[in-house]
Parts: sequence; C-alpha cells; structure tokens
Amino acid sequence: MTDAVTLIQAKRDGRRLADDDIRWLFGAYADNQVADEQMSALLMAIYFQGLDSRELRTWTAAMIDSGDRLDLSELGKPTVDKHSTGGVGDKVSLILAPLVAACGAAVPQLSGRGLGHTGGTLDKLEAIPGFRSSLTPRETIDILKAAGCVIAAAGPGLAPADRRLYALRDVTGTVESIPLIASSIMSKKIAEGTDALVLDVKVGTGAFMKSYDRAKELAETMVALGAEHNVTTAALLTSMDTPLGRAVGNGVEVEESVAALQGNGPDDLMQVTIALAEQMLALAGLEKDPREAIASGAAYAAYQRMIRAQGGDPDAPLPQARHTKELSASQDGWLTRLDALQVGVAAWRLGAGRERKEDPVSAAAGIICLAKPGDRVAKGQPVLELRTDDAARFDAAMAALDGAMTIGEHQPQAPASLVIEHVVG
Ligand code: URA
Repeated sequence: MTDAVTLIQAKRDGRRLADDDIRWLFGAYADNQVADEQMSALLMAIYFQGLDSRELRTWTAAMIDSGDRLDLSELGKPTVDKHSTGGVGDKVSLILAPLVAACGAAVPQLSGRGLGHTGGTLDKLEAIPGFRSSLTPRETIDILKAAGCVIAAAGPGLAPADRRLYALRDVTGTVESIPLIASSIMSKKIAEGTDALVLDVKVGTGAFMKSYDRAKELAETMVALGAEHNVTTAALLTSMDTPLGRAVGNGVEVEESVAALQGNGPDDLMQVTIALAEQMLALAGLEKDPREAIASGAAYAAYQRMIRAQGGDPDAPLPQARHTKELSASQDGWLTRLDALQVGVAAWRLGAGRERKEDPVSAAAGIICLAKPGDRVAKGQPVLELRTDDAARFDAAMAALDGAMTIGEHQPQAPASLVIEHVVG
C-alpha cells in the first residue's frame, strides 16, 4: 500500500514508479482519495523527471482502463485512424477519413475541439448545417458500417482520466511534457479501438512542437506506445511553418476540403494528405492508390455519405462572413514567408477559434491566403483576406499579423517536400 505523498517524493527525487503504484494512483484519483493538488504536484515532478518506457506504458494503460474501449471487431474490415498534433489550416482529417474509407478501410476518427490558434476538426465540420458530432458508441459503429468513416467527439467514457489530467496540466504549466502528451494522445486513440494509427506530428512555427528534435522524440514515443498496446502505429513529421492550403477557419476549411476531394486541392495540402493516406493504407494492408479514389469520385461520395449519416447536408451553403478586409503586399517582390502561427492567431481572433473551452466559435470567420510563399506579388496586391461576423475584431487580428509576411527580391526555393520524415516502429 502506498500513498500520494510517497509517489510525489519518489518522482520528485528521480526514482521510478512501480506498476502497482501507478495503478493504485489512478484508482485512488478516480475515487477522489488523491486530491487534484497532489496529482498536480506529481505532474510537475513528471514534467521535470520524465517517465521511462515501462512507467509510460503502465501510465497509458491506466488512462485507457479509466474508461471504456470501443470494440470495432463487428466491422469486419481493417480499421485505421490518423491523429494530428495540430496545425494552421490543417483540414487533412476532413479529406483523409473519406479518402481512406473509399479505399476499403474503416476510419473511426474520434476528435477534439480546437483550443488556441490551431482549429479543431469538429469545429470545422460543425460549420455544415445539421452536422452532429456527439454520437453514442452504437451510432459511431453504425455510421462506420454505413459510410466507412466517422468523425465524432470522443465521448465522456473514453479515457476519462485524460480529461481530468489535461485540465490540471492546462492550469499548472505541465502541458509541454513529452510523456504526458504521448500518454494523453495515445490513451484516447487506443481506447477508440482502432487496429492501426498514423500520427501527423507537425513541426514549425505554427505547431505545438517548434523544433525537429522535440517532434521526433514525441513521434518515437507515441509509435512505441502504440506497438506496446497492439496498435500498429507510424508517424510522419510534417512541416508547419506556413498555413496548409489557402483556407484557415471553419467553414472556409470545409469548402477547401470539398474542393480537394473533388480533385482541386492545393499542392501542399494534397502532398501531406496523400502521404498520410498511403501510410494508413500500408498499415491497413490495402494496396490502393488514394489518387485514384479522388479521381473516380469515390472519396467525395464517401464524404457525402459520412456527412449525411451524421445529420449534415453536404450540399447546403456554408455560412458566409458579414465583413471582409484585405491585407496587401507592401512592395513588389516574391512572398518568401507567411507565418503559420501569426495567421492562426489572427483567424482565432476573428472568431474561428476559442479562448476557453466552453466558448462558441464562428463558422464563417477565418482567413484566405490569396498568395503563398513562392508567389510573385505586386505592391498593393491583396495577400490575405480576413473574414469575420464582428468587424470590431479586425484590429486585433491585424495586430497579430504584424510582420507575418516577408517579401524579398529573390524567388524562394520551394521545399522538396512538406513530409520531413517517416517514423515507423
Ligand atoms: N493533445 C492531447 O490530446 N493531449 C495533449 O497532452 C496535447 C495535445
């Protein structure tokens, strides 16, 4: 028998926690025998001392076992999901789920909402009139059977310990710990019941992980955790210095995703989407070309089936913003930089994102990148179009964009690929 203070002291002093102690901790925390302030102190000790791979495996298993695990075996198909650590203009999930479903896999995508400058997949889909993201486990499985894919909110029964821990981490400065991030993400994905998982770990100014080394460490940690819990996992490190695609916001990202599913997606967005689709199909053991699923219309048909199955009308017009304003090039030249973080913060201030998790988001607010790095621009030419329902928000958004673009005399070299590296187990 142990107690919370002993565990806090052990971790504080750099000693490892035994499996039984971790199991005891989660049980006692669920029973409110361990107080939030004790759990917070332990999280801070973990922030400084880390968890070794054995502690992390047990910690993650205890988070999964704090709730239910979805059983997808009745689908009779390989299941594969994707998780992104979040980026600006990152609408890849909206395209990828129906795309991979059209290639024969089932994609059970249980997602979160956006907080801060990166948007949430559910917020984007909820811009579609009628779309419902809160589903019961039974509805989730029925929609997966009917449409091949589902994108819904992770219900309260899925890794509930993560919800409590994340809320503590958020207010105690302990979010940025690789073992805590890895266990948080992977416990939810493993509880979701998928056979295989591809992680899109973003690196760059607009990403959660700003440096390659940290992103790689996170990717390797999550890939190992997946394997230890029998979920075949791979990760792609992808660049997030510039917004992905041209649209940043909710409804505007749905519009761009639909264009992509119809074969008209911008190159950078398609590069990342196809690379992730190929990796998902490889893990699912399916030899299909995702490009063909787009060209044939099968991917778009799967998208329409999923939206309808979740109560949405894929043909309904999306909400349009009442006010627009343009930010123009200050000189002639080549656009060499468009900062993802600044564009993300500006879109958030226009109403596309939320400050606190209970805040509503605007379906119509956002930013359209009329030019991207590598484009030639003329002085006075609009580079960004800002959209909002509340014109009073323009000043704060414009302030966020101060210095967000660089215009140079020389055409910048296009990066060879936005996919920096594959991390496989
Ligand atoms: N996303 C999560 O789900 N958990 C974290 O800890 C960080 C990002």
